Amino acid sequence: MRMVSQSIEKPEAYGILKRAQTGGALLYGPPGTGKTHLARVLAKESNASMIQISAASIESKYVGETEKLVKALFHLGRMVSPSIIFIDEADALFRMRAAGDQNWETSRVNQLLNESDGLLKNEKARPFLILATNYPNNLDHAVLRRIPGRVYLGPPSSKAREAMFRIYLRDEDLDRNVRLSDLASMTEKYSGSDLRAVCIHAATTSQSELESMGEEISNRTRVLKMCHFKEALKANTPTITRHAMKEIERFADQFDRQSVDRIRSYFNIQPPIPTNRYESPVISKSTLDPQGDKNSLATTEAPMSSKRPILLT
Ligand SMILES: Nc1ncnc2c1ncn2[C@@H]1O[C@H](COP(=O)(O)OP(=O)(O)OP(=O)(O)O)[C@@H](O)[C@H]1O
Ligand SMILES: [Mg+2]
Repeated sequence: MRMVSQSIEKPEAYGILKRAQTGGALLYGPPGTGKTHLARVLAKESNASMIQISAASIESKYVGETEKLVKALFHLGRMVSPSIIFIDEADALFRMRAAGDQNWETSRVNQLLNESDGLLKNEKARPFLILATNYPNNLDHAVLRRIPGRVYLGPPSSKAREAMFRIYLRDEDLDRNVRLSDLASMTEKYSGSDLRAVCIHAATTSQSELESMGEEISNRTRVLKMCHFKEALKANTPTITRHAMKEIERFADQFDRQSVDRIRSYFNIQPPIPTNRYESPVISKSTLDPQGDKNSLATTEAPMSSKRPILLT
């Protein structure tokens, strides 16, 4: 994360810090964990102009149009430098190329690759590229290689949840039984947007209770009680699925090793059982000896960890 903000803020870095700079970052994680939010904050904090597009808005049904838009985006980015180009839902646009793809499907990926290669050469006015996705496994590997910065955004910790409740409920009157630390401990595995939905639900319930009480007290302000939150929690369960997290873990295992333990421990995901890679079997002299026992069994493992012994005849 630090490397990302350094790269945006200090393009004039030199020496090893310059080489460590990255021309882009991939924000990945399950839905509602603040990827879009973070990209906006980065743009604001770094005083860079933000050019934001989502895959849906740039994708054109006309062949060649998307490539032109990608090119125009980077051109604009250079003109308004320092700038951040933020492509949301990037997996839809730059998905892994497959052998059976049409030309037009691969050429938009190629266009992005060309532009991002250009970014590294153009030292002065280079836009910083941020891609965000919930499905990092679907991204083309060549795109991933050009975007070395990886930022995993997962569900918030208990402390972060408490802080988020404080922000969301800052203008609400809370009953004195409502403790933010209690709300935080009741919302494990909730994403940021899930927490927001809980607060909105609790406030809506309280408001409609107030309104149903009649006109004489309708000008009183609503008070959010624990019962409102309990009801809201029943109606709003965490939206992050275990399946989605296993997919994210699979990506992190391959491309972002520093986040993988955090993901596994939070969701209690077991690391995959290591499969034995192919290793040349050790063949003992006696098994190869043409004078020896022709039906001898080599006591080696077969390729790809098959436990069946190799019969050398
Ligand atoms: N860590 C966080 N800190 C502050 N707000 C957060 C955080 N995570 C989520 N939110 C809030 O949740 C809402 C949804 O966040 P955002 O749209 O950035 O999520 P996202 O990861 O981009 O989701 P999606 O993958 O569905 O696009 C926003 O209103 C944001 O304010
Ligand atoms: Mg988003």
